[in-house]
Amino acid sequence: MLKGNITLKGDKSISHRILIFAALSEGECTINNLSTCKDVQRTVNILKQCNIMINNSGNGETAIKGSKLSSNSKKFNCGNSGSTARLMLGLLPSHGISGTLYGDESLSLRPMERVINPLSKMNIKINHNNGMLPIEFKASESQAINHALEVPSAQVKTSMILAALSCNKKSYITDSFVSRDHTERILQYLGHKDSAYYKFKIPTFNYTVPGDISNAAFIISAALLMPESNITIKNTLYNKTRTGYIQILKQMGGKIKVYNQRELYNEMVVDINVQYTPKLKGITITEKMIVSMIDEVPILALVASFATGETIVEGAQELRYKESDRINAIVTNLKACKANIKETKDGFIIKGPNILYNTSINTFKDHRIAMTFEILSLILGEGLNEDVEKTTISTSFPEFYKTIRGIHE
Ligand code: S3P
Repeated sequence: MLKGNITLKGDKSISHRILIFAALSEGECTINNLSTCKDVQRTVNILKQCNIMINNSGNGETAIKGSKLSSNSKKFNCGNSGSTARLMLGLLPSHGISGTLYGDESLSLRPMERVINPLSKMNIKINHNNGMLPIEFKASESQAINHALEVPSAQVKTSMILAALSCNKKSYITDSFVSRDHTERILQYLGHKDSAYYKFKIPTFNYTVPGDISNAAFIISAALLMPESNITIKNTLYNKTRTGYIQILKQMGGKIKVYNQRELYNEMVVDINVQYTPKLKGITITEKMIVSMIDEVPILALVASFATGETIVEGAQELRYKESDRINAIVTNLKACKANIKETKDGFIIKGPNILYNTSINTFKDHRIAMTFEILSLILGEGLNEDVEKTTISTSFPEFYKTIRGIHE
């Protein structure tokens, strides 16, 4: 069983963004509870290459001294991080930097046209082969744009906003998909109240990053499925563009209580209590709901395998463009564990409940696939694979095993 109270390190999406805004600010900012994951470290490293001073004080505080970006480097390594690659492509050239962005094998296969095309319309000078990394860019004067997002991607939206913030004229960027809105919220917190984006002096600020709700999802799911579990995750981000998975788990019958809701730094923060729920029911999830739970679909598939009845996930084609083709990765692995699951073009159908057997898992070097099947091992009472998977999982949740060890009885 899982028992006790925990708090998690800061949300990854917010951590990337808040680092960038601190780098662009007028003075020395203090950020508390920044994510410690490898993806965020990629953003830190690139900002350091642009002569931004970033120092960890050791007590969970990070000091960042904002200044004009400048760099002697010509190559910027994004590792596995799609957010770093896409956000930097909007930020760097529009703030006077030229160079090449590159990444690991998985990131080098992910689509970048979604961000190259709108940024090119904003006069950002980009050279690429087949719309994938490595991508060369040149310092460019960004131009204003009036643009409606064509893909449900907050990374694309943020990349464009970052480019728009270096131009005097107003840009309008609309998002009918309602993708995560942390960038907009941070800008509002910093005093930019307009719905248009244009040059804006970022003041010195302090910020505390709320606990990562996507990492919480793994712990919440394990608690629902392990008899006698009762856990509370405190200080968790509860932004409504990110809470789709919690809503779905509640509709499946999950015993989840969200309380102590408060607003901190223009984001909603809550405590979440989760109790073992023996009888979860299957559910249908359609395209509109996917965007607010996009990173949680792998762990949802595991929970749905234990639920009674059919779970249908549709309109989730974006999952094919993540760190792996997550639809295929979920279906391949759950089938190997003897789940009754069928792949569709934009999702999957699971008929539960299934008795799952852990087997040799192919993580496809994808952190969220690795964590999903580590949670299965935990539920089945088998040992966790700490050494094998550590590096993949630290992409987003380096404290994964430590957190579980702390509440596992
Ligand atoms: C993220 C947005 C999502 C999400 C990713 C983080 C962000 O990607 O899957 O883990 O921080 O903006 P897309 O914007 O590509 O949907």
